Amino acid sequence: MLEHTTQDEGAKNLTILREESAHLLERIESLRANDSIGNPFTFEYPDVGRISPSTLRYMKVASDLHRLFGGDLGGKVAEIGVGYGGQMFVNDRVFAILEYHLFDLPPVLQLASKFLESFILSGSYLLSTFIQHTGDEIYDLVVSNYAFSEFPETLQRAYVAKILAKARRGYLTMNTGRKENEKQTFPRRIAQPAAAVRDIRRAPADSRNELHPRLGSQNRPCAELGRDQRA
Ligand SMILES: C[S@@+](CC[C@H](N)C(=O)[O-])C[C@H]1O[C@@H](n2cnc3c(N)ncnc32)[C@H](O)[C@@H]1O
Repeated sequence: MLEHTTQDEGAKNLTILREESAHLLERIESLRANDSIGNPFTFEYPDVGRISPSTLRYMKVASDLHRLFGGDLGGKVAEIGVGYGGQMFVNDRVFAILEYHLFDLPPVLQLASKFLESFILSGSYLLSTFIQHTGDEIYDLVVSNYAFSEFPETLQRAYVAKILAKARRGYLTMNTGRKENEKQTFPRRIAQPAAAVRDIRRAPADSRNELHPRLGSQNRPCAELGRDQRA
């Protein structure tokens, strides 16, 4: 399993969850089941007990989705770069999602399937590589935690054209392209395809940091695509 969230990041996400999403913390027992497969690193946190920082990170993303888009994300959600499937697990327990389409590489999709099949999920899921996807889906929401931002530009453009440009809403977190002195920054990398995306909205960096100064520029949604066009 992928473990790249630190104990300290877990504590920061927990603080945000306390401030913004008490309703999610009330469901922590159900969400803690995310740690029951694969023997992840877990740590003791005040009041919530032992839990993996990755689960707290996925809960923080669910909290962001709830804050940005409300409790109804729509019936069809896609995630690009899913790791072991933890975000889908948490989203399935928090939102009513009918179909969750997971995009990743074949062996990673196998791992995600093995993980997800360990639970009774409310919604259904479909596994796909980028190539296998026909591009004929209009998703209510597309999520990508770090993955999209790590792709080479050609793949980013291809994902925008085939999936993101058609999505009603999007939520992307990134771990590249935010430093002022970086030559290839994320916004520049997607500038051209993003121009083709209807109603792309980027929150200015300052307002993002103002929202969650503890996390700095990392772990923040970097773009909201066509935010809730149904409203
Ligand atoms: C940094 S990990 C993030 C995993 C997960 N989103 C998380 O937050 O734990 C990046 C993910 O992108 C996936 N990935 C790499 N190439 C990909 C591609 N062509 N299409 C979709 N996902 C890809 C990797 O296999 C991995 O699961």
